Amino acid sequence: MDFKNHKLITQPKDIGDLDYNSLPGLTSPFEPLIYECPYHASIHEILIEWIDSTASVTVNGGARRTKFYTGSDRPLRAHDLLFDWIESLLYDAVRRLAMYTNSAYNESPDETRIFKIADYWGMMYDEGGGAVLHNHFPYSLSFGYYLRVPEGSSPLIVEEYKIPVEEGRLVLWAAHQPHEVPDCEVGGRCMIAGNVSYAGVFR
Ligand SMILES: [Fe+2]
Repeated sequence: MDFKNHKLITQPKDIGDLDYNSLPGLTSPFEPLIYECPYHASIHEILIEWIDSTASVTVNGGARRTKFYTGSDRPLRAHDLLFDWIESLLYDAVRRLAMYTNSAYNESPDETRIFKIADYWGMMYDEGGGAVLHNHFPYSLSFGYYLRVPEGSSPLIVEEYKIPVEEGRLVLWAAHQPHEVPDCEVGGRCMIAGNVSYAGVFR
């Protein structure tokens, strides 16, 4: 995914210019990753119905969400299809995000590179609903999967990246990265959010 046309404020900072980087060359900005789900057509209707009928909690920012589910609590076959697909991507996603960090993870054995969906929830954005700036520390990765995106829906903003959301699109980012959703000018934006844990040697 090329973000060059979607920068919100500035180009990504050079590593050496990061405010929090007092160790030159140690870390890098984390560019969110984009994947398109091959199963979208067969899962979106039932998952939208599941969220619309169960999203009763109003979040800070005005959107509605379902309760929190653990990653293994998958009430519908569609959850299995979606989450098995997401989990199949995690090895590659973490490899890409860790590439420029100098993390010892880059030398870790393949068999310990185990990542699982820890929890998830559904979100329904009515007109005027949004999500205030927050992050998902201490999880490893966070994700958004977009089920329905009416014309005029708000983007996802992760740090300086303004990410256009599209139906069937999965966005993955490092969980500590602050992100937000501006208030929606239209109703009906519907998605599943979740977090990923690093299982490592704990299996
Ligand atoms: Fe979030």
